[in-house]
Amino acid sequence: MGRQVLEQTAKELVAEGKGILAADETVPTVTKRLNALNIESTPDSRRTYREMFFTTPGAADFISGAILYDETIRQKGSSGIPLADVLAKEGIIPGIKVDTGAKPLAGSPDETITEGLDGLRDRLKEYYGLGARFAKWRGVIRITDTRPSPMCIDVNAHALGRYAALCQEAGLVPIVEPEVLMDGAHTIERCENVTSAVLHAVFDALFTQGVRLEGMLLKPNMVIAGKSCPKQASVNEVATATLRCLRRHVPAAVPGIVFLSGGQSDVVATRHLNAINALATPRPWKVSFSYGRALQFKAGQQAFHHRAKCNGAAALGKYTDVLEGKGVMVAASAGMTEWHDD
Ligand code: 13P
Repeated sequence: MGRQVLEQTAKELVAEGKGILAADETVPTVTKRLNALNIESTPDSRRTYREMFFTTPGAADFISGAILYDETIRQKGSSGIPLADVLAKEGIIPGIKVDTGAKPLAGSPDETITEGLDGLRDRLKEYYGLGARFAKWRGVIRITDTRPSPMCIDVNAHALGRYAALCQEAGLVPIVEPEVLMDGAHTIERCENVTSAVLHAVFDALFTQGVRLEGMLLKPNMVIAGKSCPKQASVNEVATATLRCLRRHVPAAVPGIVFLSGGQSDVVATRHLNAINALATPRPWKVSFSYGRALQFKAGQQAFHHRAKCNGAAALGKYTDVLEGKGVMVAASAGMTEWHDD
């Protein structure tokens, strides 16, 4: 019974043409966004900002779930109803970020280990009571000439395994997010090698810790050249390398892969997702999005609905520039989107 519910939730999160809104930025990160809009960051203004996305008319046509931050899942919407219930009423599954951030790794302080395992069993129980039906944990891997170290990959994979096992015990679908950062000057080939090693280690840890693959989702980076690499890969090269890497390392029992945008601009993130879904190469899993920055790049319900619609089409491989309407945001597509949680 428990297993079936988990599997059902995982499937619903990657329903045809739908993906996930990652609205789980920490308070300091949302504060930067609000300040850039000349809005003071208070619990109330943060609630209004999040609610604007959650209540966008038609959002549920393209958005299956929303990942909330601890503050948000405890807040009530303007109508007095808890925000998690506002989402559920619209047919959007509420989720929750449960890691407490990436901290310097003892013995290799220029790398990070994600924390949050202490007390996690009790927190998951509480979040379930508040309406969450899935969770997210982000491990962070940085590429340099000498990094990541095998230790960094190993400990982050182990933590993802422990988190995922606890989530399934509590009835929440774990979104397992090992993010290989796009910061740096590395080539797309190096990104593919590192992403391969990371995914291999993650699925090894999930296997060792008895995580049921049918009841989880993977949230990886795309295989992409580093931001400052002089040789940027084409959309088709990114799609080909990403799908090759995932086919080699992600078991077919996983129901869905939902990409992070990782600092890609909104339009580029959509194009890449679409190109992956448009490839003729077989895919045993659904391939969709769990974007934060690339969905909320521009504030406003209209901008959000437009982006969600484009990504919904890309999850089916049916996105074209025509969908962008007049003046495709080429300028935006060239830029990077800042402000992720450190
Ligand atoms: P981005 O799409 O902004 O990378 O955020 C997704 C996310 O949840 C990263 O943890």
